[in-house]
Amino acid sequence: MPTRAWFSTFIYQEPLLRKGLERYNQDLATECRSLRDYDAAGRRWSAKNYPGGYTSYASLNQLHKFSSTFTELERRITRQVRRYAAQLDMDLRGRKISMSDCWVNIMPEHAAHSLHLHPLSFISGTYYVATPPDCAGLKFEDPRLSKFMAAPPKTTRAKPSNQPHITYPAQAGHVILFESWLRHEVAANRTAAERISISFNYSWS
Ligand code: NI
Repeated sequence: MPTRAWFSTFIYQEPLLRKGLERYNQDLATECRSLRDYDAAGRRWSAKNYPGGYTSYASLNQLHKFSSTFTELERRITRQVRRYAAQLDMDLRGRKISMSDCWVNIMPEHAAHSLHLHPLSFISGTYYVATPPDCAGLKFEDPRLSKFMAAPPKTTRAKPSNQPHITYPAQAGHVILFESWLRHEVAANRTAAERISISFNYSWS
């Protein structure tokens, strides 16, 4: 073919551990739920800004600095962030990367998270703790969408890489990483069980 792809957008997905994930996630889920019980400020903030769900985004958003469970999680995720950054050819020699924010999201039935990006960081991501069967995935939007202007719609058989959205299924035990400017959303949870994830941002210096 005479055409080649350029300016690619990379999304990373990998299990956090090779084994023992089920037990690990059960413990994490218990800790996430007790955070919700303890975090009255977060529950108040969520009632206004995260209808039906709970997020510690505005209250306990540096969990990796206060809980050994989350510090351990940070250590494991940082390894994967380094691999991802290497794939993006980012020059981190002599530079430090660090998790700047880390927070919990619990989405009961009907809770959704509208389209957003993650300011003040360069790599962001999510780790899935509990993902009931058929719960909503993580939907990413083509960052060039606003520039398409007069382009005709895509055919129904367009290759996934040519479509304006891609949804990664939420899979417990998996880490998803993306560049922080990439907009994404989570559709409403249409299952009766809670969907639990831990989100984070990385910065460099
Ligand atoms: Ni997000």
